[in-house]
Amino acid sequence: MEEDLDLLQEATQEAEAAEDSHSLYEVKMKFLGRTGKVTALLKGMKELAQEARPAFGKKVNALREALEEKFAALEEKIKAKELQKKLKSEDVDVTMPGRKHREGTLHPVTRVKDQLIDLFAGMGFEVFEGPEIESDYYNFTALNTPADHPARDMQDTFYLTEKFLLRTQTSAGQIRVMEKKKPPIKILSPGRVFRSDDDATHSPMFHQMEGLVVDRHITLCDLQGMLDEFAKKMFSETSKTRLRPSYFPFTEPSVEVDVSCASCGGKGCPLCKGTGWIEVLGAGMVNRKVLENCGVDPDEYSGFAFGMGIERIAMLKYGINNIKLLTENDVRFLEQFKD
Ligand code: DAH
Repeated sequence: MEEDLDLLQEATQEAEAAEDSHSLYEVKMKFLGRTGKVTALLKGMKELAQEARPAFGKKVNALREALEEKFAALEEKIKAKELQKKLKSEDVDVTMPGRKHREGTLHPVTRVKDQLIDLFAGMGFEVFEGPEIESDYYNFTALNTPADHPARDMQDTFYLTEKFLLRTQTSAGQIRVMEKKKPPIKILSPGRVFRSDDDATHSPMFHQMEGLVVDRHITLCDLQGMLDEFAKKMFSETSKTRLRPSYFPFTEPSVEVDVSCASCGGKGCPLCKGTGWIEVLGAGMVNRKVLENCGVDPDEYSGFAFGMGIERIAMLKYGINNIKLLTENDVRFLEQFKD
């Protein structure tokens, strides 16, 4: 057993050979751990004669202390070496040129949509988004446009089946909202719509923004007041609106809304074709039949609705003369829409 006290040299050799803190820890456990060699010496002490034990115990303790010191010193050295290595591997050359990030811009349709939502949300409107595939009922019939109604010809429709179609107007959302929610209602419904139509100002897919307000005592004056506010915020502080009689099956009376031309201030120019006014949206008082179709009592409630083409607003606002530019994905065009 006395020879075993010579563990100091063996342990020191092994510890000094350890290359990292993990292997050093393993050597430490081999000697000082719970099942380590030094610990085993202490445990074996009971086999010695009673009188030999104190001296032996003292020697083992001295050995343990010496080893602990040794390990602590080596551990410190290894840790410092490892830290240096880590710092070196994480070294950053701050003189390297950085990578350039090209900043994108929001699409003009997205910009106008966001501006419209902001503007109307400020007047208390909530956003409701309906489905792009609609049933004939929501897109037409419930909006007072039954099959064979001549107004169906106003919009060239993509039918998917006899019953389902790609919605031609966000007005379908009005029905979905009124079926679910009791007045007061104040919603805004943006989204894509589809029509078989294609020229410089029409595209088979475009975006609309629908608005619907239903409550007690709503009048056409409320509609015009709100539209004036819209025109001022969207176009110019001096913009005015005017209502012209029109026809939509789901409103009675129906109006077409013009905004004074922001380009010439109303004097007349090529943009407004010399009239001083530009048509921007359709609107009207919600037809009693539409309210009835949704279970809203038309003797108690009234409402107004409006629908505008987002591309059209974007084209007027930014002076874009061909709707195709909005879907061609030409970066040179899109880059121009920065704040
Ligand atoms: N849905 C109509 C269209 O696509 C626009 C419209 C007109 C919406 C009058 C309305 C409205 O809500 O009241 O041409």
